[in-house]
Amino acid sequence: MGHRGWLFSSIIFFICSSSCGIPAPINLQSLKTVSFDEGCTQLFGDGNLMLIRDGKAVHISLDERTGAGFASQDLYLHGFFSASIKLPSDYAAGVVVAFYMSNGDVFEKNHDELDFEFLGNIRGREWRVQTNVYGNGSTGHGREERYGLWFDPTDDFHNYSILWSHSRIIFYIDDIPIREVGRSEAMGGEFPSKPMSLYATIWDGSTWATAGGRYKVNYKYAPYVAEFADLVLHGCAVDPIEHLSTCRQREAGLYDSVGISPEQRSLMQKLRRKHLTYSYCYDRQRYPAAPPECSPDASEAVEFEGAGSWRSGYRRRHGKRRHRSPAADAAL
Ligand SMILES: *[C@@H]1O[C@H](CO)[C@@H](O)[C@H](O)[C@H]1NC(C)=O
Ligand SMILES: *[C@@H]1O[C@H](CO)[C@@H](O)[C@H](O)[C@H]1NC(C)=O
Repeated sequence: MGHRGWLFSSIIFFICSSSCGIPAPINLQSLKTVSFDEGCTQLFGDGNLMLIRDGKAVHISLDERTGAGFASQDLYLHGFFSASIKLPSDYAAGVVVAFYMSNGDVFEKNHDELDFEFLGNIRGREWRVQTNVYGNGSTGHGREERYGLWFDPTDDFHNYSILWSHSRIIFYIDDIPIREVGRSEAMGGEFPSKPMSLYATIWDGSTWATAGGRYKVNYKYAPYVAEFADLVLHGCAVDPIEHLSTCRQREAGLYDSVGISPEQRSLMQKLRRKHLTYSYCYDRQRYPAAPPECSPDASEAVEFEGAGSWRSGYRRRHGKRRHRSPAADAAL
């Protein structure tokens, strides 16, 4: 940018920072990453959390003694949260890695939650990833979606990100939106709206994670190690006692300015058509009528129609159901 350009944008910035309230667009790809100690703290698993690369990355592992986990030091009301994650390779049935936002510790009866959950598998079978949204204690009301990944998540690091604003939630994998949940009348108070912390955990989900509990964690292959790097905690931190946001209106509005461009939307639709394997919106066993916030894209819905899978929420090409419904999983 030339000198005049710089001067011009400084003036605009000056004017705007004092009065206009129009947020400059935010570039999600260039947000600052933080080291583990700058933003996070260990939750459990004593020796099973290990800092590497000067604290810029962290390993959490599961062995016969314990899993491990960490959380953000702050609670946030809206923001963009991301990590680059590499999952344990080889046999990992029963292993669950979760990367999520929650306020379950603060609001026990009416918590909010936004999840990425990675479900391990037997050797030669791929990990599956699940997203879920709970709002204001709606735990009896799961909103799971499952996806097959278009890469091997044990082979290399990939970015998994959550954008949470007043008006929408977007889950991204490698900067591609895979799911959008808009605030709507239909969702009412179940749209997450209270401050949450970010969490990452690894634990034993033998009873449900792989083929409905058929394949359990085999500690012969332990430790199972998940690696986290490129942590982004770009949000409106709130006072932990008063729950008041320290963000000014202008900053808070930043996250609302993030939308899905037409190009990204068509990529998202394409990915979902190909890789979405389960959606609560199509599960007529759990929800005899589609939940009111579901308004599926017709080209996506067609993948789930017919051949009996319409009823189970699993896509058609899977033929018979291979897994227990996530509703049943959650009930265990
Ligand atoms: C993942 O995120 C990091 C940090 O934000 C970024 O530098 C990198 O380009 C991203 N990689 C991919 C594949 O999106
Ligand atoms: C959340 O739940 C509580 C109690 O369960 C209720 O009093 C409150 O009105 C709900 N909030 C919203 C925004 O619906």
